[in-house]
Amino acid sequence: MAISYATALSKLSVTHSAKESAIPSVHFSSATCEWETPLALFEELSHVFGGFTLDPCATPENAKCARYFTREDDGLSQAWNGKVFMNPPYGREIGKWVKKAWAESLNGALVVCLVPARVDTRWWHEYARKGHVYFLRGRLKFGASVNSAPFPSAIVTFGKFFSR
Ligand SMILES: C[S@@+](CC[C@H](N)C(=O)[O-])C[C@H]1O[C@@H](n2cnc3c(N)ncnc32)[C@H](O)[C@@H]1O
Repeated sequence: MAISYATALSKLSVTHSAKESAIPSVHFSSATCEWETPLALFEELSHVFGGFTLDPCATPENAKCARYFTREDDGLSQAWNGKVFMNPPYGREIGKWVKKAWAESLNGALVVCLVPARVDTRWWHEYARKGHVYFLRGRLKFGASVNSAPFPSAIVTFGKFFSR
């Protein structure tokens, strides 16, 4: 049965801290791109979308799916298929990842992206807006950080979604 993205995403119930930390932790350093998806959020999205089959940007330690691509594989140069969960590296290349997510959806993949809600950027206007956008309330705490991120996040989905 096909259901709408809006219906599916409205089922998200994870609550996030509304406070932004005044002192960013090391996890927010530009020296790292390891903004690991909060497990509770991943599990909710996984439930809503009936499980994911590919994490295209990961390390063996933070991969969210049994099938994943690492920096060495270069997820950007691989073909994606199935139900993809993408939390991309948040550096200057992020636009390439969102473009890739959109392009792979044209080949049949469902790609659910966790991205910073940088609505003033070129990649947002050229690609993120082609998807279904759901803005998360509050700020996420990535990985093991005790501090909330200094930016808002959004879920952007590309491709057809069929519920279980
Ligand atoms: C924001 S983290 C997300 C980690 C994990 N997938 C998750 O959702 O928690 C982005 C990950 O992409 C990896 N990465 C960076 N460049 C990559 C590339 N070219 N191909 C695949 N993975 C890459 C980084 O090592 C990092 O672990």
